[in-house]
Amino acid sequence: MSDAIENAKRLAAQRAAELVSSGMRLGLGTGSTARHFVDIIGAKVRAGLQIICVPTSEATRQQAESLGIPLTTLDDTPELDLTVDGADEFDADLTLVKGGGGALLREKIVAAASKQVVIITDRSKQVDRLGRFPLPVEVVPFGLEATRRLITKVAADVGCTGAIRLRHDRDGRVFVTDGGHYILDCAFGAIPDAPALARGLVAIPGVVEHGLFIGLAKAVIVADASGVDVFGDL
Ligand code: A5P
Repeated sequence: MSDAIENAKRLAAQRAAELVSSGMRLGLGTGSTARHFVDIIGAKVRAGLQIICVPTSEATRQQAESLGIPLTTLDDTPELDLTVDGADEFDADLTLVKGGGGALLREKIVAAASKQVVIITDRSKQVDRLGRFPLPVEVVPFGLEATRRLITKVAADVGCTGAIRLRHDRDGRVFVTDGGHYILDCAFGAIPDAPALARGLVAIPGVVEHGLFIGLAKAVIVADASGVDVFGDL
């Protein structure tokens, strides 16, 4: 990852951290951009910020614990004030594609439990039309091939075609999510109607969740070398 992109991610994270104040219940996202945000929140906690947080993955939980950030669960704290998370793509409607890091299920549960969701990204995530990034779909291992066929059919019905690949990790093993599921990465290239695709996917029994986040983000903070832009309302 280039220094310029890492700097942009950090800049977006810093802007989001300005939204956090003592007493807040905070959702902590997953991925390389959210990692910057968690680092900044850790420093603020050491400086006296009083918050409780729900992590969206085991990776983020470990990072937050190592920084001394107080953690809770959605069972004990079912409503959050704010969640800050990254995204793989976003469009002008603030519809997102998420799940590149494999945490989409917990990310969506935490986002849905939050009064506000703010997304932090570098400029490369901004697209005119979603679909350049393969859409992650979390599925149960049982019936994998049947589920893949149904995804192919449902997607074709709404104008989405392309290879659907089972995700593997760097060591060549099948990637398993924090929830014990698999991920099918759907390289559609373009998604003409995200709500229609989302409706089709959730109706498939083997699909646990998909990476389309529709109507969840209140704002997207985008950074590049020239500074920070905000889409939506902070
Ligand atoms: C994790 O599952 C994802 O939804 C991430 O939020 C997304 O992939 C963005 O990650 P980066 O900040 O690493 O690009």
